[in-house]
Amino acid sequence: MADVHNPFARAAAEAVAAATGVPASELTVTAPPRPELGDFAVGCFPAARAAGQPPPAIAARVAAAFQPTALLASATATGPFVNFKVDRAAAFRWVVDATLGDGASLVPRVTDRTVCIDYSSPNISKHLAYHHIRSTVIGHALAQLHRELGWRVVGINHLGDWGTTHGMVIAALQKWPPEGPLDVTTLNALYVRYREAIKEDPSLADEARAWFKKLEDGDPQARALWEKQREVSWAEFAQVYDELGIRFDEIRGESAYEADMPGVIEMLQAKGLTSISEGALVVEIPGEKTPLLLKTKDGTTLYATRDLAAAQYRWNTYHFDRSLYVVDRGQGLHFKQLFKVLEMAGFDWATRCEHVPFGLVRLGGKKTSTRAGAGAGKQDVVLLREVFREAQAGIRDRLRESNTDLSDDAVDAIARTVGVGAVVFANLAPQRDRDFDFEWDKVLSTEGDSGPYLQYSHARCASILRKSGTSVVLDDATRAALARLGHDAEWAVAKRVLDFGDTVARSAASCEPHILAHYLLDLAGDFSRWYTAGNGDASLRVLCEDAETRRGRLALTAAVRTALARGLALLGLGAPDVM
Ligand code: ARG
Repeated sequence: MADVHNPFARAAAEAVAAATGVPASELTVTAPPRPELGDFAVGCFPAARAAGQPPPAIAARVAAAFQPTALLASATATGPFVNFKVDRAAAFRWVVDATLGDGASLVPRVTDRTVCIDYSSPNISKHLAYHHIRSTVIGHALAQLHRELGWRVVGINHLGDWGTTHGMVIAALQKWPPEGPLDVTTLNALYVRYREAIKEDPSLADEARAWFKKLEDGDPQARALWEKQREVSWAEFAQVYDELGIRFDEIRGESAYEADMPGVIEMLQAKGLTSISEGALVVEIPGEKTPLLLKTKDGTTLYATRDLAAAQYRWNTYHFDRSLYVVDRGQGLHFKQLFKVLEMAGFDWATRCEHVPFGLVRLGGKKTSTRAGAGAGKQDVVLLREVFREAQAGIRDRLRESNTDLSDDAVDAIARTVGVGAVVFANLAPQRDRDFDFEWDKVLSTEGDSGPYLQYSHARCASILRKSGTSVVLDDATRAALARLGHDAEWAVAKRVLDFGDTVARSAASCEPHILAHYLLDLAGDFSRWYTAGNGDASLRVLCEDAETRRGRLALTAAVRTALARGLALLGLGAPDVM
């Protein structure tokens, strides 16, 4: 059993550990197949092996000797498992304290752990296209998840701002000076035009290389034109990051590593790792067909060389426990080779580096390509801002229909939060490594497994709390009122909240935000079942007649609202109170 944060599950493992002498860390806590069997099941296999007895005999013995505790009410044996029932009153109290108190106990926390997360990292002079959003939102969620767990997080934007491409854009800017203000559309069009022109006149390639050489040598004119590209591009990227509420801790592009290149190459040469292949300087990797390219035959350094320098910079600067690279699956080989070469160079921290790959997004059955440079038809490059705009427009219309009392400004603000949230959630909910289809209807639906559905569930909690006319205060009266809770639909909700912290921890450890996304859908589902139970039977409503019961139910509603808002924030979604 990995460390379990949920105190009730932990108590179940510890009870079996105490009775059998097997350490709790070797026991697994699961959910029994049917809820009526109990809340947590602990298998007796390790204890049976140690004692040389059949597991059911051990389970029966543990259950027979069990004495209720502050957290656990009963234990029964079912085959090889001991099924524990939680003391529900204690659990309701824990849930309400953890969510409505200072929140510290809701999740497990670590200290002195650092994670570097390289995410988004687009190339300048190109639009942030739709595929970049996956890196951006997954990376942001991973940053938030680690922060929640107490990690020091260094969110890094490794901007693609170096390389011969920029020589082409400079050459194009010289050749065809654009009229009017420069923007990314113009820059990209120039690049595409230049690449086309090279096909007709190969000498243009030399011209571009010469410009890049000038740039490397610090020529002021080349430098100024490159800086302009960078500035114009960043201004556009920054708008998107603002929209998503993302701030990077470090914006350090590939160009920042230019000065480190000779050192990186010397270091690898000194360790005898380099060789020449077809005129290029490479590192051959045992068992790999393709070597890692350090320098082309005309002496330009490459993406991989700069990544070697960046990895060392990050280690020297942050001494990370994990260094994550949230980059599309297509770059799998690059990262495999990068980490291998770091290991071959003797850096034992190389094992702390992880590529966090993700699959493609298909819009209307068409995949959005990463390397969408020249040749990419306009429809292939779907601009992120357009996606947001379209999502917002769809939401705005619906909000206007259902909330006629809201001002236009309020509707706009909510539409923005929900529109962005819909897009963010659509990218997080599918398993990270899978390709997925982005379908507008599903993404924007408030009924299916969508961001708006979660936000709507949150707004419903907020609306119930508003309608109650009182506010939930975490005091003795509230705690006492929790004794009125207990029917199965209420219990299912509370039990789900118990899992919040362990879910966040698992989601971060495996770099899988979808684990939290699905948990939140389950929580919203549990809440909805509880809520709809009151439709047929007024005594089951949150706002029921009995004041004491109502107080307890409002506290549980407030707990759900907090858990949903907190979970949504971890994924990078806002949680409006009205929808
Ligand atoms: N700029 C690259 C691209 O858009 C991604 C960079 C990822 N990070 C890295 N350290 N290689 O494809």
